[in-house]
Amino acid sequence: MRPIPLLILFTLLYCNVASANHPPETRVDVMHWWVSPGERNSINTIRHYLDEQGLVFHEQAVSGSGTDRFTNVLRQQVASGKPPMAAQAIGYDIRDWARSGELVNLDDIAEEQQWDEVIPFAIQHLSKYQNHWVATPINAHSTNWLWVNHEQFTRLGLTEPDTWADLITILDTAKSAGLIPIVIGHEAWEHTLLFELVAVGAGGPEFYRRTFIHLNPNAGDIEILHRIFERMSLLRKYLDPGMGERSWNEATDLIRTGKALLQAQGSWVNGEFSAHGLVPGQDFDCFRFPDTQGVMLLNSDQYIFFKNYPATPETREAVVKTLISIDLQRDLNIATGAAPARVDVPRAGFNQCGRKAINDMRATNMRRTIMGSIAMGNANPAPVKNALYEVISDHLMGRITNAQAVERVELILAESPRPTGTRQ
Ligand code: GAL
Repeated sequence: MRPIPLLILFTLLYCNVASANHPPETRVDVMHWWVSPGERNSINTIRHYLDEQGLVFHEQAVSGSGTDRFTNVLRQQVASGKPPMAAQAIGYDIRDWARSGELVNLDDIAEEQQWDEVIPFAIQHLSKYQNHWVATPINAHSTNWLWVNHEQFTRLGLTEPDTWADLITILDTAKSAGLIPIVIGHEAWEHTLLFELVAVGAGGPEFYRRTFIHLNPNAGDIEILHRIFERMSLLRKYLDPGMGERSWNEATDLIRTGKALLQAQGSWVNGEFSAHGLVPGQDFDCFRFPDTQGVMLLNSDQYIFFKNYPATPETREAVVKTLISIDLQRDLNIATGAAPARVDVPRAGFNQCGRKAINDMRATNMRRTIMGSIAMGNANPAPVKNALYEVISDHLMGRITNAQAVERVELILAESPRPTGTRQ
């Protein structure tokens, strides 16, 4: 390698320092956790749309799927006075950020573009703080899905499960055929995601809302909690030892390669399969998790904007408007596998699972059965979410009994402050 001439080296160093202090007007620093192949496709869609505006996208990817792992890095950066222009955020974390006074108020853009009219109420609830828009939603993922290897499913002569009993029959058939019946990864949010599907299936939407969103269960709900943990114990028997090692998308790979039959996961699995060129109805299927049909457990990815980033209002406005635009939301969500965060994006171009996601979002929005996902922090603030993570993981890993798990959940519900203000 030839040595770099001193003058060039100096200029490079100088420019780096200069751009760190005063980013050029077109620079857009974004922090996110989209690192899997499907998620990379989604990020590239955002980059493409910003490029078209003449904006220069600089990304910082920190894995963590919205958990503390990601939030802590962002917190440190904000505390050190170097926030990104925008960061990915989900659920109640958005309110925490707004409460800290760090976020840009987006009311003017929202009003001009009538966000109140086109964004489902359940998402608005999470994008607003004290009735002001503080986040730009980019999708409407839901967690209550089963992802299926189509070839194996057909080979075993199986049909879409309607109820819990149907699911158990399918799991038994897969086990006898030597497949991993249902595959999961190692993170607590994944365990909690499985739990929330079993919970809404066992107790129904009103139980879920009372117990896990309003944190206000009635006496009968404790019986239902017992049933839920019994069902989780039953599911444990169909999981494989590899679950302690793998990430959610490595679990998805086992479905893709036909080693496992089912994965209970969010609609980002649709994006993952699409990134590998797989087609629903041909290579994979997407079913609503049994007994949760008619409900959408929501996880909406959003972007928050930091006041303390030296962007001109015009540049920031261009980014916000790009993220909320119908065109970006169409292309982005064809890639992510989710429904768009607005109800007026045409279905054309979405695959079968994407179209189903859009139809379900519109129907559940009308019926008010869109409810926040516990696992993804759309149901509760982080302390409640993290406390539930711990119990649910301890239980799934066989470290505590059903009765102990119920007792610990009861304690969390009793000790956590009930939510105030607008309600999901
Ligand atoms: C979620 C995120 C999804 C998906 C998932 C897995 O938190 O909202 O878009 O990326 O994590 O990483």
